[in-house]
Amino acid sequence: MELKRRPRRLRANEAIRSMVRENHVRVEDLIYPMFVMPGEKKKIEISSMPGVYNFSLDEFVIALEEVVDLGIPAVLLFGIPESKDSVGTGAYHEHGIVQEAVRLAKKHFPKLYVITDVCLCEYTDHGHCGLIENGQILNDPTLGLLGQTALSHARAGADMVAPSDMMDGRVAAIREVLDKEGFSQVPIMAYSAKVASGFYGPFREAAGSTPQFGDRRTYQMDPANGNEAMLETELDIEEGADLIIVKPALAYGDIIYRTKEKFGVPVVAYNVSGEYAMVKAAAANGWIDEKRIVMEALVSMKRAGADLLITYHALDAAHWLREEGHV
Ligand code: PBG
Repeated sequence: MELKRRPRRLRANEAIRSMVRENHVRVEDLIYPMFVMPGEKKKIEISSMPGVYNFSLDEFVIALEEVVDLGIPAVLLFGIPESKDSVGTGAYHEHGIVQEAVRLAKKHFPKLYVITDVCLCEYTDHGHCGLIENGQILNDPTLGLLGQTALSHARAGADMVAPSDMMDGRVAAIREVLDKEGFSQVPIMAYSAKVASGFYGPFREAAGSTPQFGDRRTYQMDPANGNEAMLETELDIEEGADLIIVKPALAYGDIIYRTKEKFGVPVVAYNVSGEYAMVKAAAANGWIDEKRIVMEALVSMKRAGADLLITYHALDAAHWLREEGHV
């Protein structure tokens, strides 16, 4: 048969396959999310996220050693505070749990790039990302607190802040206060296209941040909307966002793709807790090959246009990349 084009020629063996491979997951792409909490010698596994823990600060520093040894360049920190209140005081307290974790991380591992999640929901007793009045989540009165939260993280030494609250105007509010207080060099990685998603379930177990009434649909986006994700991203870039997070990642490849095509800014895929939990559960049952599935999912995010990958699989992925001699 006379066939001029035979794509299989370039699939004949691993040498040629790896030579023409278009996308790669590199250890440098990985951002590892970690949870810190008060106490000592505590390392509590999150039941719906096997292999992911809530760490007291001493255990957190020990865990960071592995992160750094593997060459993972960055962590994203979430805090579980000692106590919660209606205005989320723990989020912006100078000696809050995340602020202390940042100080320790930078002290022990100065080169590790420390990113903090900026939100109120882990710190409010109602579990919402903003202030509440008459059952409504208030937008503008929340902005000042988000600014204070970001500022307290920057003062503790955070390299970058990542607002995940989805209030309108929060990037502008955070940029303004950071600039005014001498942190104009601290970038903002905005959760711009953040959907009201069922995939955050295990995270809420970890952070105890399930809303006590209602849900997040008045501030997080409808999963059905793509154009709206572009609008959110456009606004965040105008307000000063340096990197854009798309979250969740696996069911949102189109949003990753469109964001990269349209704006060209660094795009970050957040491979969230529920996506992690599904893989872990299926792997524990022997139904899937975990390593293959994880690496395939991660490279699909790169192929869609993501530059960086926030993933709870980061440690495993870094180990696998090392084994295969990719690093
Ligand atoms: C806080 C926040 C959430 C996640 C990241 N930051 C939870 C939420 O919005 O309910 C989810 C992360 C994950 O599921 O892995 N607003």
